[in-house]
Amino acid sequence: MKDKSRFMSESPPSPGKFKMEKSYVHPLRSRASLGKLTLWSLISLGAILLVFVWSQSLRHPGRLDPARHYLTNGYAWGGSSWERRVRSSARPRPGVGMMTVLVTGAAGFIGTHVSSALKRRGDGVLGLDNFNSYYDPSLKRARQALLERAGVFVVEGDINDEALLRKLFEVVPFTHVMHLAAQAGVRNAMENPGSYVHSNIAGFVNLLEVCKSVSPQPSIVWASSSSVYGLNTKVPFSEKDRTDQPASLYAATKKAGEEIAHTYNHIYGLSLTGLRFFTVYGPWGRPDMAYFFFTRDILKGKAIPIFEAANGGTVARDFTYIDDIVRGCVAALDTSERSTGSGGKKKGPAQLRLFNLGNTSPVPVADLVGILERLLKMKANRKVMTIPRNGDVQFTHANVSLAQRKLGYQPRTDLQTGLKKFVWWYLRFYASGKKSAG
Ligand SMILES: NC(=O)c1ccc[n+]([C@@H]2O[C@H](COP(=O)([O-])OP(=O)(O)OC[C@H]3O[C@@H](n4cnc5c(N)ncnc54)[C@H](O)[C@@H]3O)[C@@H](O)[C@H]2O)c1
Ligand SMILES: *[C@@H]1O[C@H](CO)[C@@H](O)[C@H](O)[C@H]1NC(C)=O
Repeated sequence: MKDKSRFMSESPPSPGKFKMEKSYVHPLRSRASLGKLTLWSLISLGAILLVFVWSQSLRHPGRLDPARHYLTNGYAWGGSSWERRVRSSARPRPGVGMMTVLVTGAAGFIGTHVSSALKRRGDGVLGLDNFNSYYDPSLKRARQALLERAGVFVVEGDINDEALLRKLFEVVPFTHVMHLAAQAGVRNAMENPGSYVHSNIAGFVNLLEVCKSVSPQPSIVWASSSSVYGLNTKVPFSEKDRTDQPASLYAATKKAGEEIAHTYNHIYGLSLTGLRFFTVYGPWGRPDMAYFFFTRDILKGKAIPIFEAANGGTVARDFTYIDDIVRGCVAALDTSERSTGSGGKKKGPAQLRLFNLGNTSPVPVADLVGILERLLKMKANRKVMTIPRNGDVQFTHANVSLAQRKLGYQPRTDLQTGLKKFVWWYLRFYASGKKSAG
């Protein structure tokens, strides 16, 4: 198995390459020696960063580098009965289904919902997920069991595993890829930077490399994020607004993904649609997100942190209900045009799109807590604090008019209605007392 992230984080910089550059610098020109100084400080900075990432990977091997996890745990794939399961899961229902879709991150929150929606209407669906332990893997296993009952097989593997991806395309000529596998979370990016590079950059590139080389090339719809708007203050956020000021490494890797998508579209004719999701919530959601752990902590009587901006302003989010997001994802798949390349060569221009998928109605976090209190019939122990400067932005608000025009996207669920469904699921899921929300 090729392991790109390990390569990136552990190989020392090649000194030979820099020596060559050095010979271009004329010693008598002060401008050039200033350039030389800058070059060398950049190199030393890079070296320090490499050593840091490397030492971190020694300290938390499993979490920083899921591929290492792979090697020690040895996901099992391959064999004739495995191939039979793959084929049968990916087969569209005769007469109804149109697409065969590979869904990456299928055991994740959004991946589970999109996979079951596609399967329900008759499309062939195969899932792929590495079941990493960024949050409680037993929740991912429960989602997998749900998909299993719906007839969706989730292959256990990493998007960085080129041999596995090639095998999957050999067994099934996927018409579409719904790429949702990623390292999510804004604040975790400071503790665990390598996992963002591994999944959101190296993994995405690996997936695109395989997609560009197979025939026929699939059309790809993938998850970007509203976090690309970063420090942009113009609201509502429109696709044309600036996205060059990310406030977290997570946001930076999603922005990088958008540029990488441009490249693969340009060079290889891959049809690519990026979706900028705005704070998605709902049943089977992610335990690292505020609405989820607020619910858990209100029930436990534990204090919950409510952020306010440094200037005393409110922190608000454009919370978007999962069913609305699923409709947007499916519409993006349905309207995606074919990739134009073949044999790794571009044959003509291909579709390249980016859409906001939000709710267009930001809600202050304090109001979110109020709704949860009413639904849970319990008082929250609020602890108001200033929003830390480590990735969270103050305000998000989507302009979805482009998605409305091109995808027929129309969010229908207000926060009150959506949270009611979430709380209902939460109480049932964790009611037995056997499972714990951490
Ligand atoms: N939920 C949101 O509010 C939100 C907002 C913006 C963008 N997104 C993006 O949407 C996508 C889905 O998000 P989600 O909320 O369902 O998150 P999630 O963490 O529940 O789902 C991601 C899944 O991908 C899997 N995965 C991670 N790295 C992998 C790898 N290298 N190989 C194989 N599988 C891997 C994880 O195990 C997980 O099950 C992500 O790309 C995320 O960045 C989500
Ligand atoms: C929303 O985005 C569209 C482009 O998709 C733009 O024409 C329109 O002006 C934007 N609306 C606002 C209020 O920013």
